[in-house]
Order: sequence, then C-alpha cells, then structure tokens
Amino acid sequence: KKATSGEVTWQSPSNIALVKYWGKLENQIPANPSISFTLDHCRSTTTLKFSPKKEISTKDSFDFKFFFEGKEKEDFKPKILKFFERIETYCPYLKEYQFEIYSENSFPHSSGIASSASGMSALALCVMSLEREIFPDIEEAYFNKKASFLARLGSGSASRSIEGPLVVWGEHENIKNSTDLYGEKFPYQVHEIFKNYQDSILLVDKGEKQVSSTVGHDLMHGHPFAEVRFKQAEDNLSKLIPVLESGDLSEFIKIVESEALSLHAMMMSSQPYFILMKPNTLEIINKIWSYREKTGIPVCFTLDAGANVHVLYPDNHRTEILEFIKNELVVYCQNGHYICDQVGDGAKKL
Ligand code: PMV
Repeated sequence: KKATSGEVTWQSPSNIALVKYWGKLENQIPANPSISFTLDHCRSTTTLKFSPKKEISTKDSFDFKFFFEGKEKEDFKPKILKFFERIETYCPYLKEYQFEIYSENSFPHSSGIASSASGMSALALCVMSLEREIFPDIEEAYFNKKASFLARLGSGSASRSIEGPLVVWGEHENIKNSTDLYGEKFPYQVHEIFKNYQDSILLVDKGEKQVSSTVGHDLMHGHPFAEVRFKQAEDNLSKLIPVLESGDLSEFIKIVESEALSLHAMMMSSQPYFILMKPNTLEIINKIWSYREKTGIPVCFTLDAGANVHVLYPDNHRTEILEFIKNELVVYCQNGHYICDQVGDGAKKL
C-alpha cells in the first residue's frame, strides 16, 4: 500500500518479574526464561506521528524527532535509533517515513522505576499500528506477537508488557508455546487470588540506576555462578506453574523472594561487583518478614535491579497492608514516596 500520513497512540504498562531475566545472548535472546505480572497504573503513553518522507536525501537514514513530556529530547534519541536499527530487518518500511514520537509516563520519571519496559513496548505497538496501515490484513494474534518481538529488541523485559496479567518470555520445557523470541500470556489456569494482586512500590532511591541493565546483563558473561543461576531460574519457573494454579501463597513467597535475592546476589558476585540495595531496602525487607511472621498475612517483596522494593500482596489484605506501609515502611522511602499499583491486563490503544 502507498505510504500515508497519520498518527497512533498506545498506552503500555510496566511489569514486575517474579522469575527474573538477568543475562542474555546475542540478539536479545534471554539466558533463562522469566515471568512477570503486568502492572496497571505505571504506564507510558506514546504517540507516533508518521508521514511519507519528502526529502529524498534522507532516504537511507531514520528520520525522527523525540519529545518526552512535551519537550524535544536529544539524549533519548540514541536509544530509539538503536531500536530502529535493530528492528529494520523486520520493518523494512521504516525509512520511507518521517516520524515524531511523543512519550510520557504516568509515574514520576525520577522515581527509579525503569520506563524501558513500558516505553519500548508502547513504541513497538505504535510501529505495529503503522504496519497495519500498510498491511491492513494483519491478524490480532500476529500483531501482539510481533509487537512483543519488536519490544524485546528494544529492551528484553519490554516483551512482557504487551499483554496481561502474567506473561512468560523465554523457552521453558513445561510451558507450551514459550519462546525466546517474544512474550506469551501464561497459558495455564491462574488462581483467582493473582488476578488483582497488589504491588506497592516503595521508592527507596529515586536516583539514576547505578548499573544499567545492559551492563548488568553483560556481567553474566563469565560470571562464576551463571550456569547455576540460569538453571535456578528454570527450576523456579517449574515450581511456580502449579503455585499459580493452586494459589499456594507460602510457596509463591518462597520462590518470589528467593528470585529477588538471587538477582542481587548475582550483582554482588560479579566482577566488578555492585550492591544495589540501600540500607533502607534491608530495613523494609526485615520489617516485611517480621510483619508476616506476626500477622500471618502473606505479604512479600521483590526487587528490580535497584534499591526500590515492590511489596506484593493479595487484594483481600489491602487495608491492613496499606496501614502497615503507612505506619512502618513509609519512613524508609525517599520523601515518603510510594506508588500503589496492581496486576493489569496489558497495553491499550487510545
Ligand atoms: O529489560 P532490561 O534489559 O532492562 O532487563 C531488566 C531486568 C530486570 O528488570 C532486573 C529483571 C526482569 O526480568 O524484569
């Protein structure tokens, strides 16, 4: 079809991994499978304006402007350029267009919450909408799979942000249709309790990440525990499958907390080594453990590659946990900031 002009907007969520992706091979192929809850409130909204190029002189380059929260941002451009370069083989029409990309996040951008999963998945979906303009017969299933495939090339974990509530990315022998190439909705029965699971994100440190995930993944090459870690993640995913079906929260907690600590253990034992937790991260973890012991309420934590703590709990304990957060945990958050999120359904076209 002849190139046309238009615009499209997608809103895409962040996600929080239960079994972590840490370590990759060439072409953004994960070293182990991972699974995450798709979030609901932490989202990026991205608009892609496209029109056929007029300047013949730019026919061999990508032509785009990038605006973040209304302002043109040059420093984000290299990341997007790299994304376009990586996806060009699969989207050969990109150089026929000139683009304006407008993006904003629902969460404060200096919150230590990575926007790469939500941002890259939103952009990948916009590209797919353009593809649909060109090839109107694209099927829905193909649309989502390819969006996740493209998002993966932007940022691995972004492949898990297209759908919800639980997404697997990476081949696993016990999960049918699982693949390293894109994220797939978890294909088995999921217990009711997980459908509106809560995630309160305690912002311990809102600064720039000390270690970028690119550097972090790279540190798994030649890491003394790499192979054991990849096997551990696979085993944890095997154990999580029946737990997600039965709703056995004490098993759920054991797997999820162990995954978070293993992720950080990898960073502490790499060369060079890093401690990404802050003293307040540990204070929070200890408070969660004693609260759980005292009350029997199945609340647990997980971590990303940073100091912030994700507090995970079933919706039916929301009132008590929000009280607990206000009374005992807020003091450890930078400026008392935390974000209440929950499991969501995935990206939406606006
Ligand atoms: O998608 P990346 O390359 O930014 O890697 C993210 C990795 C973790 O967030 C630490 C874990 C995960 O599986 O999301």
